[in-house]
Amino acid sequence: MAQFGDYQLAIYGAGLEGVTPRWPVDAATLERRAAAAMPADLLSYVQGGCGDERTQRANAEAFGHWGMVPRMMVDCSRRDLSADLFGARLASPLFLAPIGVTGMCTQDAHGDLAAARAAAETGVPLCASTLANDPLEAVIAESGDTPALFQLYTPRDRDLAASLVSRAEAAGYRAIVVTLDTWVTGWRPRDLNTANFPQLRGHVLANYFSDPVFRRLLARPPEEDRRAAIMTWAATFGQVLTWDDLPWLRSLTRLPIVLKGICHPDDARRAIDGGADAVYLSNHGGRQANGGIAAIDLLPEVATAVAGRVPLWFDGGVRSGTDVIKAVALGADLVGVGRPYSYGLALGGAAGCAHVLRCLLAEADLLMAVNGWPTLAAVRDAGARRTDR
Ligand SMILES: Cc1cc2nc3c(=O)[nH]c(=O)nc-3n(C[C@H](O)[C@H](O)[C@H](O)COP(=O)(O)O)c2cc1C
Repeated sequence: MAQFGDYQLAIYGAGLEGVTPRWPVDAATLERRAAAAMPADLLSYVQGGCGDERTQRANAEAFGHWGMVPRMMVDCSRRDLSADLFGARLASPLFLAPIGVTGMCTQDAHGDLAAARAAAETGVPLCASTLANDPLEAVIAESGDTPALFQLYTPRDRDLAASLVSRAEAAGYRAIVVTLDTWVTGWRPRDLNTANFPQLRGHVLANYFSDPVFRRLLARPPEEDRRAAIMTWAATFGQVLTWDDLPWLRSLTRLPIVLKGICHPDDARRAIDGGADAVYLSNHGGRQANGGIAAIDLLPEVATAVAGRVPLWFDGGVRSGTDVIKAVALGADLVGVGRPYSYGLALGGAAGCAHVLRCLLAEADLLMAVNGWPTLAAVRDAGARRTDR
């Protein structure tokens, strides 16, 4: 059976024929290469964050103060990274976090389809954003046998929310991931300095423009009056959710509901008590609020609060396979990668994105091999320690 770490052998093997990897295998070089290739506005939107971007930087840097201790004399010739997604067996705990400009990241502006193809190729599930250049039905159609998840930005219009959710359920998505932290956009200086907000320029609104309920809100269809359709989108985006809305969200679907944006242990408990099927710890990659604590540093406390009652998903600053394993060691059941896969899409479409995922998985797998952890359970038992205290 193939192991994720075999990707390393493939790279060295190709080197014997004089072929070096088409795209970098590390996040820093990947970002530099993508920065040179992406249009300036798009790069700022993807690369940037809130305020002086301290939280965003902290997310990635904080992995550095967690360390792990290897075990020897353990047979790790085979590693099992498999993880559960509401009854579906995944080959690894990795997933593609929702990124609302995925559609714009490829040159053909069909990046959502490319990301779904990368998911199909690698078995890494895509959490498809509400904000997309292709309708959610077309996105999942490219996902092959790999399960897909739908991320909901809850609109103010309840009928529109219900429509998006029922479309996702009918299309075969396995869960609804409700993002809690983005009813309003955080202060993002890079985008403000260029007055660039992609949605207001008519990008990534395909799920709205293709929606029968949304279209009924318009005097003329988006194909005839795009400006008015964009303004209607702006007027309906961003329902403020409170805990009282959870039963209503629950009533919309039989699919599992995942609450994204939970950072406080008390909110994690409340989510579970309110019927959430999974807790998704995330500070939105530091794009929504500045001045926060690195997501990985919040993980141990939230994991204690969740206490295995529901799955705990995590994202924020994952830049390597080692980061993926550290997140598992600290209590995450599934781990989302964000910005790096956008860079993979920008450099090489579906193949570039799949390369980024394969590199993360290969490094995670080889780390487990070297450190004597044949399973994710062994990783959790090993845990991780803060090295700066
Ligand atoms: C450009 C960009 C767009 C994003 N769009 C969405 C989105 O549509 N929905 C959502 O829930 N989160 C969105 N996120 C947040 C990601 O899901 C994830 O929480 C974040 O990227 C993790 O941080 P990292 O990319 O630094 O690892 C976006 C992030 C980026 C970078």
